[in-house]
Amino acid sequence: MRQPFVAGNWKMNGSRDSAGQLLEALVRDFQPNGAEMVVCPPFVYLADAMRTLRGSAIKLGAQNVSAEESGAFTGEVAATMLQDFDCSYVIVGHSERRQLFGEDDENVARKFMAATRLGIRPILCVGETLEQRDAGETETVVRRQLDAVLEAAGVHAFVDAVVAYEPVWAIGTGQTATPDQAQAMHEAIRTRVGEADGTIGDRLRIVYGGSVKAGNAAELFAMPDIDGGLIGGASLDAENFLDICQSAEKAGAN
Ligand code: PGA
Repeated sequence: MRQPFVAGNWKMNGSRDSAGQLLEALVRDFQPNGAEMVVCPPFVYLADAMRTLRGSAIKLGAQNVSAEESGAFTGEVAATMLQDFDCSYVIVGHSERRQLFGEDDENVARKFMAATRLGIRPILCVGETLEQRDAGETETVVRRQLDAVLEAAGVHAFVDAVVAYEPVWAIGTGQTATPDQAQAMHEAIRTRVGEADGTIGDRLRIVYGGSVKAGNAAELFAMPDIDGGLIGGASLDAENFLDICQSAEKAGAN
């Protein structure tokens, strides 16, 4: 049994005020029923978030981490700093980081290891662009992204990790992958990790991201290899996010 997992990736949205209100609403209304819920606010709101979430079942995550431990890296945030703010999770390799900030597979693998070294669980994002899908390269691209981390970190580093399959063309576009398209890739990811270690592959939580909403979450989460979601836009609204979380719980209970 894999515990359903739902994380909210707030990206660079909101204000200190709106972040506080969103967290308070989540803390007030979240009734854990089997799923693990994580919120990933911008770095500067982590301190507030840590205080608001104290004593609640909701866990805190960050959106990025430096591959370096410490030193002259202006603008970077180290894994030890995330630890200071009780971050249990960190997103690594999000396609926006890969595409807009030049993160390559090697960099992503180093970030993944910087997190796992400190016991912070990485949410490793992989996914193809529309161009790559149209060229029939989806599996090759996702496999390359996954292999870069598997080879650098070793399969045992995946024991506590979550993998997020996020087709780039589905992120923030309103165009969700069909449950069958997503399931096919989730299965391929599980098979790949399973080739390295069967038990770790079986237990690995693989979540889908890309325009998940309250209205389409249930059908995605009903697929056998989809263990929850990484939610962008819809995680900025407490009611929607809680609804999505409930869908994950229902799917997990079946
Ligand atoms: P979206 O973003 O839900 O707004 O499509 C998902 C993500 O980028 O993690």
